[in-house]
Amino acid sequence: MRRKVVAGNWKMNKNIHETANLIAELRERMKDFKNQVDIVICPPYTSLVVAKSLIKDSPIKLGAQNMSQYDDGAYTGEISAKMLTAIGCQYVIIGHSERRQFFKETDELINAKIKKALSEGLTPIVCIGETLNEQEAGITDKIITTQVKGVLHELKAAEVEKLLIAYEPVWAIGTGKNATPEQANQVHKLIRKQVGQIYSWQISEKLIIQYGGSMNAQNASMLLSQTDIDGGLIGGASLKADLFMAIIQAGAEASG
Ligand code: 13P
Repeated sequence: MRRKVVAGNWKMNKNIHETANLIAELRERMKDFKNQVDIVICPPYTSLVVAKSLIKDSPIKLGAQNMSQYDDGAYTGEISAKMLTAIGCQYVIIGHSERRQFFKETDELINAKIKKALSEGLTPIVCIGETLNEQEAGITDKIITTQVKGVLHELKAAEVEKLLIAYEPVWAIGTGKNATPEQANQVHKLIRKQVGQIYSWQISEKLIIQYGGSMNAQNASMLLSQTDIDGGLIGGASLKADLFMAIIQAGAEASG
């Protein structure tokens, strides 16, 4: 059985003081947590060092929201994989739709970032998902298939075993409109099938595929109990300790 991973993408929210408060609230609520799911928080860069020290001896793991495809050099404003591992980051979100939309990231660039992250020992959370226009045009499957192929280009099987995929339909992000559990599960199955075809079914069976897009305390149980939904990538609801905990709890219950 695949272990569920619930990750909070804080996006551009929470300064270091607010970060400290939110982590303290989360830890308070996690006192009796039995470790049935992996929990990751992805605060902004400026909070990572503080967050790392504040999650010590807790079940929470640390992730970043983005990174450069380069090692170092004259890339003003960028952060490298090595910088992230040096502060104890384990995960990094790559190719979020907001990076695709606002910063023009392509599958090709995302593929380069994934390779760099893996070579430095980071676990990439690779985001894919169709836009509203694409969904309405009935081309979700085509878009997903193209993205999977593009982001995994020339990755070795051993590398694919180390990453997570997050299916985030763009029309569901921050809109309050989530995909129905069945709708999401169907796309997750498609992703798994495709990874199975490119690599092997052993690899695709182990692949963790999270759902992201307006997951909240109310819909988490239904989504996380689907056969192929192995966790969540949570935006808005990860900014409030009680809401994030409710989703973690739903993940734990769905894990049985
Ligand atoms: P919301 O949960 O706010 O819809 O955001 C989802 C997301 O983009 C997580 O990466």
